Amino acid sequence: MFFPPQPQHAAQRSPIRGPALPIGLAVTAIGVLLSIAGAPIAASAPAEMAMPEPLVVQEVPAVEVGATTAADPCSEPSVLEAIAVADDSAIIAGFGGGESFRAAVVAGNAPCIALDDPAHVWVVVNKARPLAPLSFAPSSLADLPLQMTTRSGQARTDVAAAVGEMADAAAAEGAGRIGANNGYRSYDLQVATHASHVRNSGQAGADASSARAGHSEHQTGLALDLVACDSSCGAIESFGATVQGEWIAANAWEYGFIVRYEQIGSGITGYKPEPWHLRYLGRELAAAYHQGGYHTLEEFFGLPAAPDYTH
Ligand code: DAL
Ligand code: ZN
Repeated sequence: MFFPPQPQHAAQRSPIRGPALPIGLAVTAIGVLLSIAGAPIAASAPAEMAMPEPLVVQEVPAVEVGATTAADPCSEPSVLEAIAVADDSAIIAGFGGGESFRAAVVAGNAPCIALDDPAHVWVVVNKARPLAPLSFAPSSLADLPLQMTTRSGQARTDVAAAVGEMADAAAAEGAGRIGANNGYRSYDLQVATHASHVRNSGQAGADASSARAGHSEHQTGLALDLVACDSSCGAIESFGATVQGEWIAANAWEYGFIVRYEQIGSGITGYKPEPWHLRYLGRELAAAYHQGGYHTLEEFFGLPAAPDYTH
């Protein structure tokens, strides 16, 4: 545990998976209780459906039981080389893998890693941690290879590729077709989105389901909202109870994604559960998150809870 005792969270924590469990003992545990919350978004503009591509067999990072962290991982040649070319996956590998990376960050032994740098997969954005700069935009965006229900159909290039692979795997395993509602949202679009929530639900209601501009993971290009598609695509609010939503809850980590806002972490994130909102961490960190039984990114990185805006 990384927080001062918070009874409301401890009471909600899963008895079979939680950060207090030794890393590696929860490898096969599955099952995230998801519920549904409203989050009205912009007008619909369906795009072309992507053609299914051959399934690529996954290589899931191994559980790092007993993995050691170098005394000074930021001085390791492999880490320095990876930092020089901004290769997040290689940086994490240089630390010894996802769990070793996490442990080094939490221990304060990773001064070369900034959790507030929005250009990296490990960035943590929440109500207490605005993007810097507030108007940040990703350097590369690509169209999501999914049927879209709005015009916000882009994400970071690596995220778009990963979600395409994940959607193909879901379809191949009989879990149905996955589409998306919103991917990347610019600062200005987040201003409009949040304002729409305020008009519909008031300030408190809006803040429980929509980030204020400069505080949304959508602005990093690392997040997207999924929908289930059959003959047509459903709403984000319906996603959690669909076959697609259940498949995502169990399997998204294998493709580098986590469900960012779970019921169990609501008191820490300050958001109602959003089983549709996926956050890309890359495969190494998503595997460590899953295998460690975490339910919020704040707990994963030992950061304070952020249920409210601090300014
Ligand atoms: N709905 C999530 C919290 C966002 O607006 O980023
Ligand atoms: Zn979202």
